[in-house]
Parts: sequence; structure tokens; C-alpha cells
Amino acid sequence: MEPITSVTSTSGPRVLTIASGKGGTGKTSTTVNLGTALALIGKKTMILDADIAMANMALHLGIEKSPTTLHDVLAGTADIRDAVYELESGLKVVPCGVSLSGFEQSDPERLGKALEELTQEIEFLLIDAPAGISKDGVIPLAVSDEVLLVVNPEISSLADALKTKMVTEMVGSHVGGVVLNRASIDKTELSKREVGSILASEVIAAIPEDAEVRRSAAFKQPVVIRKKDSPAAVALRKLAADIAGETFTEPESRGKQEGFVGRFVRSIFGG
Ligand SMILES: Nc1ncnc2c1ncn2[C@@H]1O[C@H](COP(=O)(O)OP(=O)(O)OP(=O)(O)O)[C@@H](O)[C@H]1O
Ligand SMILES: [Mg+2]
Repeated sequence: MEPITSVTSTSGPRVLTIASGKGGTGKTSTTVNLGTALALIGKKTMILDADIAMANMALHLGIEKSPTTLHDVLAGTADIRDAVYELESGLKVVPCGVSLSGFEQSDPERLGKALEELTQEIEFLLIDAPAGISKDGVIPLAVSDEVLLVVNPEISSLADALKTKMVTEMVGSHVGGVVLNRASIDKTELSKREVGSILASEVIAAIPEDAEVRRSAAFKQPVVIRKKDSPAAVALRKLAADIAGETFTEPESRGKQEGFVGRFVRSIFGG
């Protein structure tokens, strides 16, 4: 894993900020997996950890020992191009440091200027925003072309997302879509349609509750690589294809569709 400095593409990136309002809805998981899925379909993609107080994107990817991070960039002591790391998937990552002193020395207002240095290098830039709407949370909204709101199917999550949507519009950006994360078949929770109508925005993906998301994070690998056909990974890969304007082919769920008899016959006769 080496820092990269080369300029490879000619047009500026589409900047998507992944935000929520409420903490813990799945912003970092979505950023890491959507970014990886975009990289795996050949899109030049970068993800950036703008959660400068409580950063943990690097932990999801096993790159927590990166020598230069966004903290250094926002402290004015490093060039952002020295804080970019390229992973095996082709995904480029700007991690953030985890120390309290690094946070204290960071000036979030340097983010916009730092990103200008990157505009020639990538097609998609995904920014993982912090929870809340303090200064370090608002700047990632302001520098975006559009915001994806990651919500859970519960009222507290939607109330906070609504506030984030209002702030997004106040700072001159807009919500491009809602990602309903940790959706299950529990009838008591809010449906995709209800979430869309409460937030007055399109729900562009419903990512199911899936233990493989947590397991993959524990293994420091994106679920779209480690268990690419698990329910959440499939939904995330489909979202990536939709965002990139490409067709997504569902994986064959042979075991699910054919039932017990089919599986039994196949286990005997092969196929
Ligand atoms: N679809 C899912 N199914 C199961 N677990 C999930 C799913 N999405 C996220 N999680 C788990 O929920 C927890 C919170 O996720 P994550 O860290 O991505 O949220 P966050 O919004 O970035 O949190 P924070 O606001 O603290 O930055 C993690 O343990 C993660 O593994
Ligand atoms: Mg996070």
C-alpha cells in the first residue's frame, strides 16, 4: 500500500456525501462497500473519512497504520495527495487519524480547498460524514454534489435525517436519495414507501439487516468482497451499479429457488 500521486482522468468527480443525522445508521459501512463495489466495476473511485472526531473507516479496511491522514491535511501539514492510499480492489482511500490531538489540530474548513487538489483524479468521490450537524458535519454536506441519507427504519433516525436534509439544502446541496439500511421483514418497522414519503426523497436502496456486514467489518474487509452474494452485499452492489448507470445482474440464488428436493437431487447427481 503506497501513497499515490498520479493524475489519471480528465474530468472532475461526482461528489457524494454519505450522511445521516443520527449516529450508527451505517454511513461508514455504506461508504466503504459502495466505494469498493464501484471500484470493482471499473469506476475510478475514492472514499474519504470526514468523521474527523470519531474516524473509523481505516479500521473497516485494515489500513489504520497509514502514516499520513486527513488530520494532517486539515492541520495544514500535508498535501491531500500524500494521504491517498490505493487498495487491491482499485479503491482509493483517504483515511482519517483517530487521535484526539489530531482532531484538535484539524480545521474542517480546509476540506473544500484540499478536495480541489483531487478533482482531476477520479470519477466518484464518496465522503463519509460524521453524525450530527456541527461544523465538521456540515462542511461535508456543503462540498457535495449530492447527499445520500443513510437511515434505519425507525422514527428517531428519520427525524434526524430530516434535519440533515434541511441543512443540506441550506448549504446549497441536495439529497440525491435515501439508503434504507438494516431493513428487515419485521412488520412493525417503517416501509420503504413510508420512509420515502416522510423524507420526501426517493429511497434508492434497501439494504437488509445482515450479520455478514458486521462480520466483514471485524475481518477488516468490505462485505462486497468477503461475502459478495450475501443479502446486504447484493443490495450494495446493485446500488453501485445504479449509481454508475450500469445494469446489475442478480447472482443466481439456486439454493433458495429450487428448494429442498432440487438441492437433494443435485447433491446426488451433481450439477
Ligand atoms: N445492513 C447491516 N446489517 C447488519 N449490521 C449492520 C448493517 N449496516 C451496518 N451495520 C453495523 O452497524 C454498526 C454501525 O455501522 P456504521 O459504523 O457503518 O455506522 P455509522 O453511521 O458510520 O456510525 P457513526 O455515526 O458512529 O459513524 C456497525 O457495527 C456495522 O457493522
Ligand atoms: Mg461512521
